[in-house]
Amino acid sequence: MTPIQECIKNKNTKIIPIWLMRQAGRYLPEFREIRSQNQDFVKLCLDENLSSKITLQPIDRFKFDAAIIFSDILMLPYGLGQEVKFEKNFGPKLGDLNLDSLLKTNEDDFNNKLNPIYKLIYKVSKDPNLKNRDLIGFVGAPWTILVYMINKLSPKKGLNENFFKDKILIKKLLILIEKFLKIHIENQVKAGATIIQIFDSWAGLLKDNIEEYIYDPTLNLVNHTKKLGVPVICFPREINNYKNFCDFVNPDAINIDYSIDPEKIIKEIKIPVQGGLDPKILLNDKQTLKKEVKRYLDIFKDHPYIFNLGHGILPETKIEMVEELVKTVREF
Ligand code: CP3
Repeated sequence: MTPIQECIKNKNTKIIPIWLMRQAGRYLPEFREIRSQNQDFVKLCLDENLSSKITLQPIDRFKFDAAIIFSDILMLPYGLGQEVKFEKNFGPKLGDLNLDSLLKTNEDDFNNKLNPIYKLIYKVSKDPNLKNRDLIGFVGAPWTILVYMINKLSPKKGLNENFFKDKILIKKLLILIEKFLKIHIENQVKAGATIIQIFDSWAGLLKDNIEEYIYDPTLNLVNHTKKLGVPVICFPREINNYKNFCDFVNPDAINIDYSIDPEKIIKEIKIPVQGGLDPKILLNDKQTLKKEVKRYLDIFKDHPYIFNLGHGILPETKIEMVEELVKTVREF
């Protein structure tokens, strides 16, 4: 069994596997090299030769316990026919949302559009470097996908104040998104993904209707993934109550964000925990990094734990700091 499966399925606390969110990304010079020659991000995600190469870059360098596929949560709206662009130094920009045409999306068209992602997964799963390692496929949670599809920009750039008002639109879209996320998850598992992570990056935006917009749709995806026979990790970033989320949704493991007190969480949550460390710590000196990493390792020494961050690794992170992090975890 792989170290992560050992942690999740057997609740083994003797090994602490490690991988990092956004490990295949801009802090890596070898990624920036490929990226500089490929301006169109969506096209890059759909080039299975390059995307499989990028997926394996952090494994070659740091020997992490899992590779996460190089793709994006916004490939789902792309598959549904909404325009998706990534602008340099700005982030994602989506095209106008046309509910009628979205509702007409045909499953075969969707599968064909996203087929290069499944080819990438198949290719990487056969790579000798993946021996005794997991291959993590992922999706955005229905709520976070909905936020991008309606707002068309990251909420970081501001949220349209009428956003929460059109409850009928929200409901119809959530059902559509959930249907295609299930297909996307199933295709990834069939292609060779051994774990699915569900990113709910904007879970913290929602103050009311949490059960209807977050718990219920996420629970449906979690149950769907469990039926396919692979573990599912949830990351409901900044949700007001991780314990309630876990009681309701019951994923195989939960990724915590860096605002969460790790000592409190192990008292409240029984399932394996992943992540937590503030990615900004990696911009500090090695001494501070080591101290903070050891604090997490000590707290989780009797609780099944997968080392990771409380959000994606920052692009300005130095390679030597990641090396130091891996070394500290491996030597513990
Ligand atoms: O290494 C990995 O973790 C795998 C690849 C991955 C990417 N995006 C590649 C990417 C994963 C798992 C994601 C998830 C994702 N994408 C999320 C959820 C996690 C989170 O960060 O909250 C979200 C919200 C998105 C949407 C998205 N994609 C945004 C908001 C941005 C722009 C902001 C940014 O960080 O630049 C992206 C672009 C993106 N996705 C990049 C990468 C490597 C940077 C693209 C570039 O090179 O310009």
